[in-house]
Amino acid sequence: MAQIKAAITGVYGYVPEDVLTNQDLEKMVDTNDEWIRTRTGIQERHLLKDPDKATSYMATQAVLGLLEKTGLDPLDIDLLICASVTPDYFFPDTGTLICHNIGAKNSFAYDIQAACSGFLFSATTGAKFIESGAYKNVVIVGADKMSSIVDYTDRSTCILFGDAAGAILLQGNEKGFGLQDSWMRVDGVGAEFLHMKGGGSKNPPTHETVDKKMHYIFQDGGPVYKAAVKGMSEAVGQMLDRNNLSPDDIRFVVPHQANLRIIQAVAKMLDFPMERVMVNIQKYGNTTSGTIPLCLWEFEDQLKPGDKVILTSFGGGYTWGASLWNWAY
Ligand code: COA
Repeated sequence: MAQIKAAITGVYGYVPEDVLTNQDLEKMVDTNDEWIRTRTGIQERHLLKDPDKATSYMATQAVLGLLEKTGLDPLDIDLLICASVTPDYFFPDTGTLICHNIGAKNSFAYDIQAACSGFLFSATTGAKFIESGAYKNVVIVGADKMSSIVDYTDRSTCILFGDAAGAILLQGNEKGFGLQDSWMRVDGVGAEFLHMKGGGSKNPPTHETVDKKMHYIFQDGGPVYKAAVKGMSEAVGQMLDRNNLSPDDIRFVVPHQANLRIIQAVAKMLDFPMERVMVNIQKYGNTTSGTIPLCLWEFEDQLKPGDKVILTSFGGGYTWGASLWNWAY
C-alpha cells in the first residue's frame, strides 16, 4: 500500500482592516519611513483595533474562510492546532475557542507556542496525524494579535509587528503530494535576546511588572538578525541536501517574514533567486504565526500540483526549521 502523505489542500487568511503606516509611526515615535523601509522592508501593517476582539477572532475568520473555500464541513475536522504567542487566555487554549466558534464538535484542539516558528512546527505536527492514518482532516491556524504585546513607545520593536491569521487544511493522499521532509531545532540561548519578561510564572503580573513595561516584547535585534540568517539558511540547506535537490528544483521558498534584509541574506547564502521567494512583509510586517500561511494564501495562484515548496522560519527561543512540500493543487 502506498504511503499516506499529508497535503495542503487549502489556505486562507484574515487581515484586520485598520492599517498602521510608516507615516503614522513617524507621529508616534522618533522614526521615519525611509529608515523603516530600508532596514526592514515594511511599509505598513494591519492592526486589530477592536478591544473586544482577540487572536481567536482573527483565527476564526481565517478558518471559516478556509472551510468555505474547501467545502469542508466543520463537523468533519478531526484536529485543529493553533500556533500563537498571543493566545486569548493562558487557558483555555485558543484552538478550543476556535472550534467552539466554528462548530467543530468532533474535533480536538490544542495550541503550539514556538514563537515565529509556531506555524512551521504545527504544520509538521499536524501532518504526522494524517500520515499515521489516525485522522483525515487537520486544520492548522497561525494567528497573532501582536499589537497586544507591542510597546508603541519603543521604536525598535513597534515598527516591526502586525496582526493577522492564516490557516491551512491538511488531508491525506497516496499520490505523493504533501509533506516530504522536515528539520526543526530549538536553542534556549536565544531567550536572552527575544522574550517577554512578565505575565508568566517567572514574573506573574503585578503593578510593578506593568510599571516596568514587562508585558511587552523585548528584543535585542542584532543577535536575532544574525541567528535568523544562519538558522533559516541552515534549515533550507538541510532540505536541499537531504533530498538531493538544488535551488532550481524548488518553485518557491516561503520564509517567515521578520525583515526583508534577513530574507534577502538567506536567499543570497543559498544562491536562490528572490523571484522565487515569497515576500509580502511590505504590507503586513511580522505577524509572527501568520506570516507563512499569509504568503501561501497570496501566492497560491502561482503554484501548481507537484511544485516543490520549502517553508522556513526562525523565531524567539530560538526556534527554527524548514519543511519540504509537494504542492497538491
Ligand atoms: N527608527 C529610526 N532609528 C531606529 C529605529 C527606528 N524605528 N529603531 C532603531 N533605530 C536606531 C537605533 O537606535 C540605532 O541607533 P544608534 O546607532 O544611534 O544606537 C540605529 O538605528 C541602528 O540600530 P540597530 O538595532 O543596529 O538596527 P538594525 O539595522 O539592526 O535593525 C532591526 C534593527 C530590529 C530591524 C533588526 O535588528 C532586525 O530585524 N532584527 C531581527 C528581527 C527579527 O527577526 N525578529 C523576530 C525574529 S522572529
